[in-house]
Amino acid sequence: MPASAILRSALSALGLLLALEIAYVVLRRSSPRYRLRLLYHLWAVSLAGVGALLALGRDMVPVTVFDLTVTAAALLTTIVVFSLFEALVLVRPWDSRRGPYVPKLVRDIVRLSLVAVVALVLAHTLFGQPLDKLLLSSTALLAVIGLALQDVMKNLFAGVSLQSERAFHTGDWLLLDGIGLAQVQEMTWRATRLRTNDGLEIVEPNSTIAAERLIAYGSGRKPVAFAPRIGLPYDLPPAEAKAILLAAMREAPGIAQTPAPEVFLESYGDSAIVYRLRAWTQQVAGASRFQDGLLARVWYAVQRAGYSFPFPTRTVEMHDSTQETVRAGEDARARAMALLADLPLFHELPAEALGRLAAAARRVHFDDQEILVREGASGDSLFVIEQGHVLVTMSGEEVKTTAIPLARLGPGSFFGEMSLLTGEPRRATVTADGGCVVLMLERQEVAPVLASDPAIAEALSRSLAEREADTAAKLEDRRGRQRAAPEQSQANFLRRIREFFSLPEA
Ligand code: CMP
Repeated sequence: MPASAILRSALSALGLLLALEIAYVVLRRSSPRYRLRLLYHLWAVSLAGVGALLALGRDMVPVTVFDLTVTAAALLTTIVVFSLFEALVLVRPWDSRRGPYVPKLVRDIVRLSLVAVVALVLAHTLFGQPLDKLLLSSTALLAVIGLALQDVMKNLFAGVSLQSERAFHTGDWLLLDGIGLAQVQEMTWRATRLRTNDGLEIVEPNSTIAAERLIAYGSGRKPVAFAPRIGLPYDLPPAEAKAILLAAMREAPGIAQTPAPEVFLESYGDSAIVYRLRAWTQQVAGASRFQDGLLARVWYAVQRAGYSFPFPTRTVEMHDSTQETVRAGEDARARAMALLADLPLFHELPAEALGRLAAAARRVHFDDQEILVREGASGDSLFVIEQGHVLVTMSGEEVKTTAIPLARLGPGSFFGEMSLLTGEPRRATVTADGGCVVLMLERQEVAPVLASDPAIAEALSRSLAEREADTAAKLEDRRGRQRAAPEQSQANFLRRIREFFSLPEA
């Protein structure tokens, strides 16, 4: 073999190797996701080998040496080219937040299949193996491998399906039966490596994860909701309960303000009304800590509001139910009497008449947004607000607009007197603004009181005239310069009340 040929061959091999290694350095700098190291260098060596053999001349080299070198180079070229395509395109390096186009397991399977195809083609072309025999033996080999590694295959396919469904990604938090909350560290062909909040590393076979119910909480970038249930006492009205719970939740450590927390009345339990909270947080990793903070805040808020948590108790208590009912009735009457006595309207009313009214009054609870009185309906009850607020609105049809707000009334105010006193349809709609408690008095209970004290009819007619004037002014505001509503005088109202209740002239 001439020395010049050897030198030429060595130089071309070295040149090729150098060029490929420089390309490697450039590639690693520009694309840090390119993962091949040893295989790349082997590939560079194999190409340099082919270059050297070609430079020497094919007739100078034994056929087997040449064929084996070309085979190695071809197989390594397949791997390296695919890995390049993977690093530069398939993993979507320009938008890594969205993750790769194709899951890792699928990429690995494609890589393996490509290598297998190239190996088959080489075995056929370079080594003269008949294609049908090759296919048959490789199928048989695959079948044997498949049978022998049944479990591995099961995990492999489960992994592929989990990844192609994009059920979760590395860094996501999963809630798994029997494990609890754990973060995905890595997914391999066989298993998924998880780490719990207690620092335990768990290697869970992919097939188990695929077969089980899995709740994915994501990585914490998007908020997730936790929905603990709370039992609150039956004497705490739902609107108030929700207001207490919501206020406590808004202040809970780690809570996300959007989406806003919510509370739902879920059921009437044996010893408590059950509410389901929906509280959003981005602290997925600290779910237990978040729930702890949330529930603790709820306890303090409920306690401060003067209620305690009901719990099922087996204590047998002997009640004298008749006495208890009597006592509860007396309490309610005393509270009603105190409220009615405070109304300027009834200031002059003797205690005995006030007592009769209080005894007849019905205490009623309304939820937020419930309508107590509907405009246009007939009505013969007077309402006195004991707790909470109501909104008085009038339909805007007359002035071609949406509802016109007239007033917001609170504890100690009354409404519903207009229909009760004049027999006309309700002038406005009254809606609960938050939960509220009202005392309801029917016409037949108010009538004797009006008859007994003429000052009450006068006070009521004054209130009627004032409210009517107020409503007319608000309507006029809306109408602009259009015609104003005819105002009704107090005297006019008084006359109508007297007529309606057949009261004698004062
Ligand atoms: P009534 O018409 O029976 O039913 C609706 C009630 O809304 C009405 O009685 C009044 O008590 C109350 N109402 C009507 N207009 C006003 C107003 N301008 N301000 C406060 N309350 C009002």
